[in-house]
Amino acid sequence: MPDSEAKLSPALRFTPPARPAGDPREILLTGATGFVGAFLLPELLKGTAARVHCLVRARTDAQARERLAAALRGYGLTAPLDDPRLNIVRGDLAAIDLGVGPAGWAQLRETIDTIVHSGAHVHHLSPYGRLKPANVDGTRTLLHLAAEGRPKTFHHLSTLGVFRPGDEARPVTEDSPIDGERHPFGRGYAASKWVSDRLVEHAFERGASGGIYRLGRIWAHSATGAVNPDDMFSRLLTSCAALGCHPADPGLDESLLPVDVLAGALVALLGDGDGTGSVHHLHHPGTIGPGAFLAVHDRLRGTHSEELPLTAWLHRLRRATERGRTCRSCPTSHISKSSPSGRRPPGSRSWSSATTGPCSGCGTWGSRSPTSTRRRSAATGASSDSPGSTCRSRSRSRSRSRMPKA
Ligand SMILES: NC(=O)c1ccc[n+]([C@@H]2O[C@H](COP(=O)([O-])OP(=O)(O)OC[C@H]3O[C@@H](n4cnc5c(N)ncnc54)[C@H](OP(=O)(O)O)[C@@H]3O)[C@@H](O)[C@H]2O)c1
Repeated sequence: MPDSEAKLSPALRFTPPARPAGDPREILLTGATGFVGAFLLPELLKGTAARVHCLVRARTDAQARERLAAALRGYGLTAPLDDPRLNIVRGDLAAIDLGVGPAGWAQLRETIDTIVHSGAHVHHLSPYGRLKPANVDGTRTLLHLAAEGRPKTFHHLSTLGVFRPGDEARPVTEDSPIDGERHPFGRGYAASKWVSDRLVEHAFERGASGGIYRLGRIWAHSATGAVNPDDMFSRLLTSCAALGCHPADPGLDESLLPVDVLAGALVALLGDGDGTGSVHHLHHPGTIGPGAFLAVHDRLRGTHSEELPLTAWLHRLRRATERGRTCRSCPTSHISKSSPSGRRPPGSRSWSSATTGPCSGCGTWGSRSPTSTRRRSAATGASSDSPGSTCRSRSRSRSRSRMPKA
């Protein structure tokens, strides 16, 4: 993926907002019907005095409201719908001017002072061309909105998957430049997120302020357990529960940051800006495997999940699928990131170990905390059941000398 994909229009310039970063009044939130966005919305309403305008895809205003309501209900969140500071804007990231029409664009241009961009077409098996309209063009459109009219800060949710997976372990920090990372078009999700991350970096070079938040795997709420059932790790666990067995393999261990911890950290960080651009890596520092979850499941259900070597577990999964049993299994690319031998599994194009980088299938990071650079805990929100739910973040001010030229 060439850096030329991430070019901003040469005329685009940004004016830093006069208002302190920590005092947003009018927030445009994208992706509120998604997993992360659904939890960000109540946190933004609680943690700021701002009106929150949610960009939602729908044919009618009523459908937009119903779609947002259904998404929130699905995660056990209903309170935000009654909040008078919630405003729903019907629109589409992939459409010209967000599909809001000239009057809607003018309204957003003159009203919004903070953009929180959580929306993205999240699909790990789609090619770049299919994801580009929402992920790349959508980010570009929002940056144009940020540059026009009322000055705005721009907060962009990215992924640690912008760092290319490699065969060798390497530490990455907020100071690690991403301009040299190369993603093939075939790894469409990572490629599209890398391009959008680079677009925002270029905007910071042109005077934009805000943050880039590169996330590891975001997972269940630390108190309610509300989780995205389509997440790869969720699918792995439901498959294990259905099969009555689980794979024992350290390579399947995941770093799972509770979504409420993430949302709290993000809202805290919104107010932390110094009028430039900063980068934060947000992920859980520890890892946990499926066996720990199946042990709790067994205790609660009175069942017994058999622990199997990965290959034997995959065999059971295949047999169950052949017999017509429905398992919400995860794609093999995710499972095969861990090879019992430590070598690339035969027939698989790539995988990454739990400590080297983003999984080739899911794009998220089986991470170990990088240890270099300044570090501070942005938020802690662990319930006693959640293993050390700390959210680590290192920020760096925009440094022109380190940034590649746009
Ligand atoms: N969850 C994680 O573990 C994780 C890890 C790393 C990075 N991230 C990043 O965090 C952000 C949120 O992820 P998520 O897990 O919440 O994803 P998600 O559950 O798939 O939600 C995606 C959101 O984006 C919206 N969206 C997609 N295409 C759109 C379009 N064309 N116009 C308007 N809205 C559109 C979706 O709206 P619809 O309901 O209309 O589809 C949905 O609200 C993403 O930027 C993702 O790359 C997440």
